[in-house]
Parts: sequence; C-alpha cells; structure tokens
Amino acid sequence: MHEHAARARWLRETLHAHAYRYYVLHAPIISDAEYDRLYHELVALEEAYPELRTLDSPTQRVGSDLSEELAKVAHPVAILSLSNCFSVEELQRWEERNRRLLAEGVTLSYVLEPKLDGLSVVLTYLNGVLTTAATRGNGEQGDDVTANIRTIPSVPLRVPVTPDAPPAPPRLVVRGEVLILKEAFARLNEAQVARGLPPYVNARNTASGSLKQKDARITAQRPLTAYVYDVVDGDGLTLDNEWDSLAYLRALGFLVVPNAALYPSLDALAAELPRWERDRHALPFEVDGVVIKVNDWAQRRELGVVGKDPRGATAYKFPAEEAVTQLLDVQVNVGRTGKVTPTAVLAPVFVSGVTVSNASLHNYDLIAQMDIRKGDRVVVKRSGEVIPYVVGALIEARDGSEMPITPPTHCPYCGTPLERPQGAVDLFCPNVRCPERVYRGLEFFVSRAAMDIEGMGAQTIKQLIAAGLVADEADIFTLRPEHFEGLEGFAEKKTQNLLNAIAAAKARPLPQLLAALGIDGVGAVVANTLVQQVGTLDVLLELAARTKHAEVAFAAAARPLLELPAENEDAQKAQARLRDPLVELAPRFLDAQDSEKRLARLLKPLLAQVPAFDLAPLHATLLNLTEAARPLLSVSGLGAVLTRSIVAWFADDRNRTLLAKMRAAGVQMQPSQPAPVGGALAGLTFVLTGTMSVPRDQLEALIVAHGGKVSGSVSKKTSYVVVGEAAGSKLDKALALGVPTISEAELRQKIGDV
Ligand code: IVH
Repeated sequence: MHEHAARARWLRETLHAHAYRYYVLHAPIISDAEYDRLYHELVALEEAYPELRTLDSPTQRVGSDLSEELAKVAHPVAILSLSNCFSVEELQRWEERNRRLLAEGVTLSYVLEPKLDGLSVVLTYLNGVLTTAATRGNGEQGDDVTANIRTIPSVPLRVPVTPDAPPAPPRLVVRGEVLILKEAFARLNEAQVARGLPPYVNARNTASGSLKQKDARITAQRPLTAYVYDVVDGDGLTLDNEWDSLAYLRALGFLVVPNAALYPSLDALAAELPRWERDRHALPFEVDGVVIKVNDWAQRRELGVVGKDPRGATAYKFPAEEAVTQLLDVQVNVGRTGKVTPTAVLAPVFVSGVTVSNASLHNYDLIAQMDIRKGDRVVVKRSGEVIPYVVGALIEARDGSEMPITPPTHCPYCGTPLERPQGAVDLFCPNVRCPERVYRGLEFFVSRAAMDIEGMGAQTIKQLIAAGLVADEADIFTLRPEHFEGLEGFAEKKTQNLLNAIAAAKARPLPQLLAALGIDGVGAVVANTLVQQVGTLDVLLELAARTKHAEVAFAAAARPLLELPAENEDAQKAQARLRDPLVELAPRFLDAQDSEKRLARLLKPLLAQVPAFDLAPLHATLLNLTEAARPLLSVSGLGAVLTRSIVAWFADDRNRTLLAKMRAAGVQMQPSQPAPVGGALAGLTFVLTGTMSVPRDQLEALIVAHGGKVSGSVSKKTSYVVVGEAAGSKLDKALALGVPTISEAELRQKIGDV
C-alpha cells in the first residue's frame, strides 16, 4: 500500500509539473501522449484505491456530476472594484487627489497591466491547496464556482507548483480574471458552426456563462483561461509592493497577467498609453483598457477606499469597440465584380470614436448561421482599420416582432437573376452591364488608389452615367468640353479642371493602368511584376488569347472524360483537374518528363472507366496549353491562380474592346522606360508604417519605380521610415535607432510627385 501511495504522489507531482509547463509556461517537455499515459496510470490507481484520491489530484479537474447548484460564499475581505479614467487629464487629477492624502513630496511609481475583459474570480488556497473559488458577486459574497474553476488547466490546484519555489502561506487569497483567448474563441465558434449551432457573440459573456454552469462537465469543455493579478490576502507574506507580488505569484505557478510594466512616474506611464492602445489588438485576449496601480502597498493602504473603489488603483478605459444597436434593415450592395454584400442599416450608434449607421453582414450564409433577423438587437464591432461589421444578434432580447432575412434572388439594380458560383459563399450579379456594377467599377477606376482622376467623385460619375456620356472606363477618356454643357454644376472652370485631370490620367504608367482595371488579384505589385517580366500590353493580350484558345481546345478534347458519370471520389478529383487545366495541370507539365505517362497516371480513375480512350489528342492539347501559358506561369511571384485570372480577363472580348477604346482615345499603353539607374531614390531604403493615403503596395511601387528599395523592418541601414496615420512599432524602432522619419507628402516631394 505504501508503494501505491508513493507512486500516486509521484504521479500527481509529475503531472502537475508538466501541466504547469504546458499551460502556464507554454513550454512542454513531454509529448501529449506521454502525459496521457501518466494521467491514466493515476486514474487507474485512484480507481483501485479511492483513498489515494486527493483534492489536489490532477484527475479532479474533470467536471464531476456531483457539482452542486451554485451556493454563495462570503469573501474573506471586501473584493473591490475600480474607478475609471478616460483621459490623461483625469489620470493626473487622480494622482493629484492622491498626493493630497500622502506625505508631501513622496515618489509615486506605478504598475500598469492590461485590463482583461473577463470575469473576476477570487481563489483561496489553504495550505497551498485550492479550496474555494468564487466570483466577485457583490464584493461581499460571490457564487461558489470551485468545481468549475478546478476544470481550468491554468489554475494550479496546489501551489507552489514546483518544489524550488517559495512556500505558500497557510492561507493565500488571490484574484484574477477568467476569460477565453481570442484564438480559442474563434475555434470554439468554428466548432459551433460546424455543428449547425449559432456562434457565440462575445467572448466575455461566453466565459462568464461557462464558469457559472451548474454542471462542471460543461465548463470543462470550454476553453477557459485564468490570469491572476492580485494578492488579496496572505497571512505572513512579507511582500510590500505590487511589482514584487506579481513575481511572487508567477513563482508560485500562477499564470500571471502578462505584459505588466513598472513606471517610475505617471508622466512616464502616460507617455506610453498611446502605444498600449495601439497594440491592444496584438494581445491574445480582449482588453477594455489598462489598470494602473500604485506600486507601494504602504501608500495603497494609506490611500484607502472610497465606496467600493480603492484610491490606489484605477482603470484607464479605451474607447469601446463593440456596441449594441438595432438592425433596422438590410440593404443589398452590389460591387464592381458583381459580388453581393448584405449591408446592415442600423440605428446610429457610437463605437470606438465614431457614429456608425451601416455595417457589413458579410454574406447570407453567415446571416443564416447566426440567425440574425430584421429588428434584432445586434452587436456591432469597429476595430482598427476594418470596416464595421455585425458580430451577432442578441437572441434573448427578441420580442417576436423580428423578421427573417431572405437572400435576394434577383439583382435589385438590374433585375438579373443572381448566381452563386460552385463553392462560393457569395451571390453574384452576372450582368456586366448592370448599372450598379458599372458605377462601382468607374468609382474604383477613377479613385486615388487607381487612376487618381481628381475632381471625379461619386456624384460626377452618377451624373455622367445618367446623361449617357459614360458607360465604361474608356468613355471617360473621350469626354470633351461640349459634353458638359448643360450639366448641373459644371461651369467652365470646373469642366476644364476635370478635363485636365483626365488628360493627365492618360499618361499614367502602364502598371498603374493595369492595377486600375480591377482584375481579380492584380494590385500594384502584381501589375508591376507583369510589366517588368512580360513587357508590353500587346504581348499580354497575345499571351492571353493564345492561352485561352489552347484552353478551349483542351476542353473539347477532354469532353468525353468530363461527361462520364464519376464513379468515385478519385474520378471526381480527376474531372476537377480536367475542368481547370490551367491551374491543376499546366504547372505540373512545365518540365515533365514522360508527360503522356504522367497524364495517364493522373487520369487513371477515369481512364479505368473507358479503356478505349485515346489519350494522345488530349495530351497534345495539354502540351499546347502548357506552352501557351509558359511565359505567364514562369513569371516569378505570379502563380497559376493569378495566371488564370489574368488570362480570363485579357482574353475576354469585352475587355479587349475596352482596352482598344482606351488606346484610341489616347491612353498611353507603352511601358515607361525602366527606372533610371540614378532615379531620385536610388540607393535609399524605405520602411513604411501606418496608414497612407493610398494602398501601401502602390506607394511601394512608386518608391521602386524611382530607384528606391522597400524593406519590411527597420534597421540602422534604413534610410527613411515613412510614417502614416496610426503608425506602429516601426516608428518606435526608428526613433530608438535614430533613423530619420518622413511623411508621405515629404516622400512624394522627393520624387517630384506632388
Ligand atoms: S485589479 C483592487 N487588475 O476590472 C484591485 N483588475 O473594472 C482591483 N480587471 O473587477 C482589481 N484586469 O475584474 C485588476 N489587471 C487587472 C485587471 C482587473 C481586469 C477587472 C477586475 C475588476 C474590474 C474593475
């Protein structure tokens, strides 16, 4: 018996140590399988000898069905809340008030921690063993969630976790936050959707709901994490400041709130707040601000408490990124590619600094999955650069008047039946002459990010379309002064300015024109590569036509195999290859030896069904296709999918006519001379950070076109860091290394592009 007890103790300690390395240090030293083996040995031992089962055994984390209804527990000391500050001025006033209560001239240093957006819990360890866990409740008493907390792997069931750590006092009460990490939340929702259930809307509420389950087995299935940030009580502890207490908690084996920082003064701390706010999205959990605590505990005690808030700590809140509002209606937006986007019309709501009344609903599949209805209370999120979107509906808030949202069957702008390509989640309007598509295409074509035609706003485009003057991108270049006569708002001067801007746009570099055409996947970088490696537009047109022709011939030769009823999955796969030869076959045959044998092997599941099939003609058309596509497929950085999209666009008759019309109207289509070796930026290396007035790749292309280089990271070798709005850590790095910084305007000045 003694032997079993010793073994059980060894297993418990070993498993605790490995779980700690895995969940807290994120540095496991044994495989999951090995862990499982030890774990099951302990389970077996405890089953045979139940008296060996201890409260702190790792086997006791699994939710037990004995879990009681949530009882109330009284907290050993009042569990306080925090006052809020929303500006640096408020923080300064907070410090001033505190100074008045303390001896004159004292030094105040501060610990700053992320303010975790989860559920506050209080954990009590008696003689190192977790005995009670409670929610904050009303501060005096909380819900007993001991059984549930025990299922959270990052909560030590016994401290210290490692033998070399300092001992725990006989009674230790700590406070922390239970939450779901962003990534775990995303995975949880993927699983929900895969099971046909609506995804959870909000990580905080999901964490809270999970923790308050009556059945701890349910809690055990939720990916909860607990970070600890405060010593509430501990008899005999000699700690005297916050910073050391965090180190102590870490040494005991707790997962301690990460990224905490110690600042010598409030000024030093305030200077860092913008960085904290900017970097909040890089943290693995949701935060709603930072917590600022006076480091010295003696000072904290002296400052005391007002109401439920300690004076010695406060929360600096970031603007909320989520808000709840009512979904009034759903608009059907059609983009230039024909893609249909359902757009929420919302009761205006203030989110992270702006009033939002429209938000993306992504697509109709997602609306159905999330069961969003017209009239619902919905959560809207606006975070960083992304356009606002609807996160989900508050289904509990329904009163029965909500109406389901049905996907449209016809384009609301041209009446054409909508299509949904195989495998796509989006609906499309297939009509290339759809007025909305034409309008959106023109809007993009003239925008700053594309041809940059100044003075041609959305309003002007609508006017020109309505007057029948413009029906496609090429028509813009045929406009003459007399066209504007009688057009509202077009006095002589305005007309002349617009015509000048159009004339200037005729001379844009070829890559800029290519990127403005809105070809799937062709932005500034790909357009540049194409021009550099393929040469002229005529070559491109010729390559596309030839490749398309070869594709058609291949499709004809493959038809008998495509018409076979596919007998199994392999045969279906082979057919999918035949249907998309440019992506699926041509790249593999660029330098294939024994290509006919190879093709036979790839098509084996189909050829088995028609033994008499003559492969030779199909093989010949495939080699033709491969040869035709070779120049494009060999362009480095292009790839087969982009090649397919480029071929499809340039082989399309309508697009060829469009380009011919542009050429006839005087649009410049010869590639400009390669960047002169002594370009204005020759020998200089640039790093871009923050948001620019145009997409970043366009600015990069501009730098390269003028002989400069672009790098992704700042080093001493960087010549300039170009700083846009909301610049990131690269700006900090530049300042630290003394690398000069310039604005986008200054960059444009350097190359005479102003
Ligand atoms: S310290 C007296 N630190 O914010 C100390 N609280 O708005 C009080 N919270 O109820 C708590 N992250 O649930 C502290 N790093 C952190 C925190 C944090 C999140 C929560 C906590 C508290 C609430 C107050």
